[in-house]
Amino acid sequence: MAFNVLISDPLSEDGIQPLRAADNINIKIDTGLSNEELADRIGDFDALLVRSQTQVTRDIISKGKKLKIIGRAGVGVDNIDLNAATEHGIIVVNAPNGNTNSAAEHTMAMIMSLSRNIPQAYHALKNHKWDRKRFVGVELKNKTLGVIGLGRIGTEVTVRAKGQRMNVIAYDPFLTEEKAEKMGIGYGTIEEVLSKADFITIHTPLLKETRHLINARAFQLMKTGVQIVNCARGGIIDEEALYEAITAKKVVGAALDVFEKEPFHDNKLLELPEVIATPHLGASTFEAQESVAVDVSHDVVGFLTGESVQNP
Ligand code: NAD
Ligand code: MLT
Repeated sequence: MAFNVLISDPLSEDGIQPLRAADNINIKIDTGLSNEELADRIGDFDALLVRSQTQVTRDIISKGKKLKIIGRAGVGVDNIDLNAATEHGIIVVNAPNGNTNSAAEHTMAMIMSLSRNIPQAYHALKNHKWDRKRFVGVELKNKTLGVIGLGRIGTEVTVRAKGQRMNVIAYDPFLTEEKAEKMGIGYGTIEEVLSKADFITIHTPLLKETRHLINARAFQLMKTGVQIVNCARGGIIDEEALYEAITAKKVVGAALDVFEKEPFHDNKLLELPEVIATPHLGASTFEAQESVAVDVSHDVVGFLTGESVQNP
């Protein structure tokens, strides 16, 4: 029996070798489809592989009459309607480990860029402005980094921040005193972490409970002069509240890799000089993209050929 697999977001070619190597799997790569086009075509496929761009909606899932498995080459599964998949008996697998380092490194790059105004200074110099006074930064050493969400990426960021001699304090519902002590960090309630940090970095998934976790009330709790980084998901920070907090000079720097609406061509946060940004590049390294594609391809091959899956 042969299976048809549709890949609807760009995935690493080396990473999908396990699928190419399987005798009974036909691969179709069709990226950039609209939701309507995907809904029209999904009926022919046994498996769908996506990254974060394809929105796997209830409509698409219900039209996937042969669909058995959806593979997400990455961590966040917020672009897949999990309830609809479960109701239709479709398994969803992700690749939780492959991009951890890349996302942590990107977060550190954002923290360091913020602290020394590197993107702003680069932009000024490219526009022929030699301006040393405007871009005086702050050291990271002895500053407090507040980590919200101490899972895989939050933990890797913590290790790197300690290497920069930062003090780290974290909030995660599963963080215990024992674990914090072992990691050599402080811990507290979310309110305590938000109110003590000089830099804040978010590493939770986007869930019903974390949507607008960082809202106007959260900004009120923060120190004046705080800087904030979001390399997790758009929607965890309320963008309107962030805009207000920056224009009120409460927040003096924000580094955003993810946004409430993606992709976009216009976002008023980008008009603020305090905001630096990248277009969802946290996992965009050759290593991470190969790794997540390999992991998810193995799971799809394993599932279709009746073996076990690693990351349901
Ligand atoms: P993880 O599951 O290992 O860690 C998430 C942590 O968040 C868990 O420890 C969990 O207990 C904690 N958490 C859940 N709800 C919370 C809350 N209300 N307050 C505080 N903590 C809470 O996931 P991970 O691998 O560390 O990835 C985190 C997120 O980063 C992913 O869900 C994904 O959305 C995002 N991500 C983004 C990129 C990117 O390209 N920018 C790359 C990889 C991952
Ligand atoms: C993820 O959740 O893994 C990230 O968003 C990375 C991505 O797929 O772009």
